Amino acid sequence: MKQSLLVVNPGRKYGVISRHLYGHFTEHLGRCIYQGIYAEEGSGIPAVRGIRSDVAQALRRVAVPVVRWPGGCFAETYHWQDGVGPKEARKHIVNRNWGGVTENNAFGTHEFLDFCEQVGCEPYLACNMSSGSVREAAEWVEYITMDGQSPMADLRRENGREAPWKLKWFGFGNENWGCGGPMRPEYYADLFRQYAGSVRSFGGERLFRIACGPNGADYAWTDTLMRLAGQDMDALSLHYYTMPDYYDIDEFPWEKKGSATDFDEGCYYRTLRRALAMEGLIEGHWQMMRRHDREHRVKLVVDEWGTWHTVEKGTNPAFLFQQNTMRDAVAAAVTLNIFNRHSDKVIMANLAQMVNVLQSMVLTEGPAMLLTPTYYVFDLYRGHQDATLIESHVLRDLTGPEDSQVPLLDVSASMDAKGVLHATCVNLDAGEEADCRMLVPGMERARVTWRTLSGDIHDHNTFDSPERVKPAPAQEAMLLQGECRLTLPPCSVTEITVHLQA
Ligand code: AHR
Repeated sequence: MKQSLLVVNPGRKYGVISRHLYGHFTEHLGRCIYQGIYAEEGSGIPAVRGIRSDVAQALRRVAVPVVRWPGGCFAETYHWQDGVGPKEARKHIVNRNWGGVTENNAFGTHEFLDFCEQVGCEPYLACNMSSGSVREAAEWVEYITMDGQSPMADLRRENGREAPWKLKWFGFGNENWGCGGPMRPEYYADLFRQYAGSVRSFGGERLFRIACGPNGADYAWTDTLMRLAGQDMDALSLHYYTMPDYYDIDEFPWEKKGSATDFDEGCYYRTLRRALAMEGLIEGHWQMMRRHDREHRVKLVVDEWGTWHTVEKGTNPAFLFQQNTMRDAVAAAVTLNIFNRHSDKVIMANLAQMVNVLQSMVLTEGPAMLLTPTYYVFDLYRGHQDATLIESHVLRDLTGPEDSQVPLLDVSASMDAKGVLHATCVNLDAGEEADCRMLVPGMERARVTWRTLSGDIHDHNTFDSPERVKPAPAQEAMLLQGECRLTLPPCSVTEITVHLQA
């Protein structure tokens, strides 16, 4: 058993961890929308106005704060007017990016905003800048937010919605260096300024303008964009996917990423190393942004992140359907710890994608639904939402093979509005427990509860065995003179909650 030390210092407080770091992403891709969150008429799946009740309930349970839609690359071919009005009259289009399948537009603006209301989350829209127009984007926001009389507000009413919706988060394009272009940063910067100048909210709240940011480590994109358009944006997005093996940008669509379930221990550690690279990317882009924004008014939004493996055998390769193991859970957990620790820089993040695509929280098959190990990580991390980041450390022992070593443990901690302390601690070792002394200076006596999600690195839930991986029931421990002992299983994610004793 490995020995380690975890120190949480409630006396050292930083800023608030925005709940929006726990956001998600949905796209008209494969079975994410149709069959995933939306059950078409006649499917017999219990739903409220088409929104699957089982999925909405699961998402509400983990307090999903914000969801991005309609893409992704799909956003750059999407014309919102195709998806409003009577369903039978909506255009049937070809989903060019994702398998050339027919998109019947049954799920459009009204359905997405209804979905957000049912889940209790905020909407985050991405507009079309490569095949759409400034007018189209401006009218979309008018349609959603205008209370009084106007051509778009009247159209909305005609389509059955009297009151405007609330809209704050607005993304200008998607990957405009790639599927949403490809544009040069200079060109995108000018276009962004044009759009940002014309797309205005009619509701009380000003739109929060998110510009298309870099792909991974493309610091030149950040540099140019911040120089030419930094003053017109509120945030810059960042996309980074964890592709364990064979990642080569020239090989799109990355046929050789590697199986989601069949991998060796070396690949497990390489995956985690690549997930941990998120920290350097955030720090690197932040430094670059500072050159043009000394006060750091502009923040980062990591609106696509997660693991990306080879699609499951026998599924449509364009649908990007992958299984989700404990390896993915650990990758998600260390990434969320990074976001927490950098919550002064990152104000929103959106895991790709919520249902049936890439690193999903929920998988569906007909009327059946299962929760993935990644879902349970979001459950264990719920306490951090809108809590105050506090100082935490672990001994930085390393584990894993020499060419892909990772820290043995990884942690972040926060204090919520009720004074309850939450620490989330990950044991990255594939096979060994960690005997962990936890110190919380200044706490004489407190009740500690802890819940752990653990398993073999390959463990995952299937429709035959949907509850194989789930958190073990909470355990109790006592913090005496600020100290207690926890045994963290290998390949595990643990939520530790410390309640002060009266
Ligand atoms: O999430 C899948 C795709 O990955 C998105 O559509 C695109 O933005 C990214 O390249």
